[in-house]
Amino acid sequence: MRTINVIGIGAGSPKHITLEAIEALQHSDAVIALDKGDTKQDLLALRQTIVDTHAPGTPIHAVTDPERDRNPTNYRQEVARWHSARAQLLADTIRTNTTDNSTIAFLVWGDPSLYDSTLRIIERMRRECHLDAHVHTIPGITAIHALTAAHNILINRVGEAIHITTGRNLPNETPNNRRNIIVMLDGGTAWQDVAGDNTYIYWGAYLGTEHQTLRHGWARDIGEELATLKQQLRQQHGWIMDTYLLREMDHHTQPTATT
Ligand SMILES: C[S@@+](CC[C@H](N)C(=O)[O-])C[C@H]1O[C@@H](n2cnc3c(N)ncnc32)[C@H](O)[C@@H]1O
Repeated sequence: MRTINVIGIGAGSPKHITLEAIEALQHSDAVIALDKGDTKQDLLALRQTIVDTHAPGTPIHAVTDPERDRNPTNYRQEVARWHSARAQLLADTIRTNTTDNSTIAFLVWGDPSLYDSTLRIIERMRRECHLDAHVHTIPGITAIHALTAAHNILINRVGEAIHITTGRNLPNETPNNRRNIIVMLDGGTAWQDVAGDNTYIYWGAYLGTEHQTLRHGWARDIGEELATLKQQLRQQHGWIMDTYLLREMDHHTQPTATT
């Protein structure tokens, strides 16, 4: 039976990779790379650097995501069709390029448990395409941890809950969930929709990379400037990924690592 290593590679720096991840990569016969339509050159370069550094010569088989109808009449049906097409394509690539008892690595951005579909696709591949395999997941440093480390902050205050959401969902979150909220996958500037007098923002883009950009401040004070900066950076690099923490706190508080 095949073994599939689902390896978290960290969120941008080649130094994020763990010893466990390196070991799993070195024991893999091939890397299967699922390229989203919007995969950026810088991200592909990181994957190549990791393989060249730690397991030179390991073949990388890149699979480009099948086309997806973004405005379907039946959304659920289209998503199910797309997921099946992805699973089929991956299973075909694996069968064509590796033997029955080989070990395959999927290199996953950040950690495989956080807003990533690799484990879901593998599950579908096993169920629908009868490609059986042992799955072994290796955790990675997430964009959230790259953000908090870069700002030298904790995510939560003592005993408080933490909420993680997407830019699209942020405006619908309850005030309670917004006390310490991490926002990912924000194609726009969702912080502007929810900023109140007591909202503080810790923002980071291109975390872990040479382009890492950090800002923090009261969201009402710096929100507009941040929106312009995000637009400029996107133009400059051709892509952007940002993650931020919004924290509700008394406007008279001096923000520190733990407040
Ligand atoms: C599809 S999710 C993948 C998350 C990943 N699995 C993780 O553990 O961080 C992509 C989102 O992660 C965040 N992200 C990933 N890498 C980042 C980076 N280097 N800098 C800032 N945000 C990043 C952004 O919010 C981006 O929209």
